[in-house]
Amino acid sequence: MAVLAVVGGQWGDEGKGKIVDLLGAKCQLVARYNGGNNAGHTVTNEYGTFRMHLIPSGIFSPQTTCLIGNGVVVDPKALLDELGEVRASGARLAPLFISDRAHVIMPYHLRLDQLEEASRGRGSIGTTGRGIGPAYADKYSRLGIRMGDLVDESVFREKLAFVLEIKNRLLTCLYGATPLSFTEVYQEYLAYARELAPLVADTGAMAREAVAQGQNVLLEGAQGTMLDVDFGTYPYVTSSSVIAAGGFSGLGLPPNQPVRALGTFKAYSSRVGSGPFPSELNDETGRHIREVGHEYGTTTGRPRRCGWFDAVASRLAVQLNGLAGVALTRLDVLDALPQLRIATAYRLGHEVLERVPAQVEKLQQCEPVYEELPGWQEPIGQVRRYEALPANARRYVERLESLIGCPATIISVGPHRDQTIVRHDPLAE
Ligand code: GDP
Ligand code: IMO
Ligand code: MG
Repeated sequence: MAVLAVVGGQWGDEGKGKIVDLLGAKCQLVARYNGGNNAGHTVTNEYGTFRMHLIPSGIFSPQTTCLIGNGVVVDPKALLDELGEVRASGARLAPLFISDRAHVIMPYHLRLDQLEEASRGRGSIGTTGRGIGPAYADKYSRLGIRMGDLVDESVFREKLAFVLEIKNRLLTCLYGATPLSFTEVYQEYLAYARELAPLVADTGAMAREAVAQGQNVLLEGAQGTMLDVDFGTYPYVTSSSVIAAGGFSGLGLPPNQPVRALGTFKAYSSRVGSGPFPSELNDETGRHIREVGHEYGTTTGRPRRCGWFDAVASRLAVQLNGLAGVALTRLDVLDALPQLRIATAYRLGHEVLERVPAQVEKLQQCEPVYEELPGWQEPIGQVRRYEALPANARRYVERLESLIGCPATIISVGPHRDQTIVRHDPLAE
């Protein structure tokens, strides 16, 4: 095995952190390739519970090396805060490097994220407010400041002076907001740069070298396929390439590697922020799932919208990511429910759709076509073998497998590392 991509199959928060923590222990390299601190990946292990936003969830395996790839956008203050938290845990940590090509989230990105959201009014995306969209926009309009620039005092000064003038005009003239002080931003970010400079490296070269040596490299996706900038429910998406293919450009790997992709899916669905969600439950069952599953955002604390498993959206994720297997998480959250539903298709007027339409205006009008299965109504958190799961739980898993066309190779029945049923090790040859 060389490269394993762990990607979100739904709208994020599928339990990627838990799965990366589990599998990362067997990898020499664990790398983030997209997103920024909009991500919130929860890791529960012997050191406690940690909410990782930028640092790869492999950080607790000291024999691995963790990379923040060029495709990530980095808020230096958030990264330093997070580093402080993991260092305080007392755990032995993996070494961490940040790509010199990763773009920096600057204070004007945070402001613009909020101002752009406010200007959208009822059509707001419901972003995490972390400056993600504006930072990626600057990357593509070639106004970005990269980590390599940040740690070079004179280059940083020159780039900041140029960009800040443009951003201040935007803030004041378009939004009527107060401008940012060059000196304050420069001094603040220079201090971050000095702390982070020893970690800034050519992470792409490190990743290619690891692959050349036949090491296990794990690509840790952030967000989920339905939030992908190209294939998600645009414009209600994040601003990065979430899918496994984004792992190549987001880390600097050539596409001639033997890559296997593992998709992480909840046994139901959830979404934070705005945008269409055909199988959403605005009823007692939705509230039950939210409370039993503690479905509140890891990054923003917002209540997550909950609903039934959507096999239509999940099939898209299986196909787009070329999934070899699925890590099905949070099966235990469904323990008490007498009946379960799965959306197998969408009804749009007189049409029955087997695929997710590109236009959100259409998706918003889609009604799910449901199939009903009996629940198992017993706790499964202690189960460690697939055969020991209640018959109805196995029936539910097998029906999902057949509807999405991919085997559930890992089944998670609780947040802890140990609460996992591994039917097939994705890192095995
Ligand atoms: P991520 O963004 O994909 O890493 O997921 P989050 O960490 O945002 O949200 C997943 C939540 O589910 C976290 O609180 C995890 O601790 C928790 N979790 C992961 N797997 C399981 C599971 O199998 N059962 C339960 N009950 N919780 C889980
Ligand atoms: P992890 O990695 C769930 C959502 C936001 C919003 C949209 C755009 O923990 O699964 P952004 O701040 O990225 O511009 O917001 O995307 N979003 C997530 N939802 N999990 C995440 O990350 C998310 N990252 C962004 O709620 O709807
Ligand atoms: Mg999350």
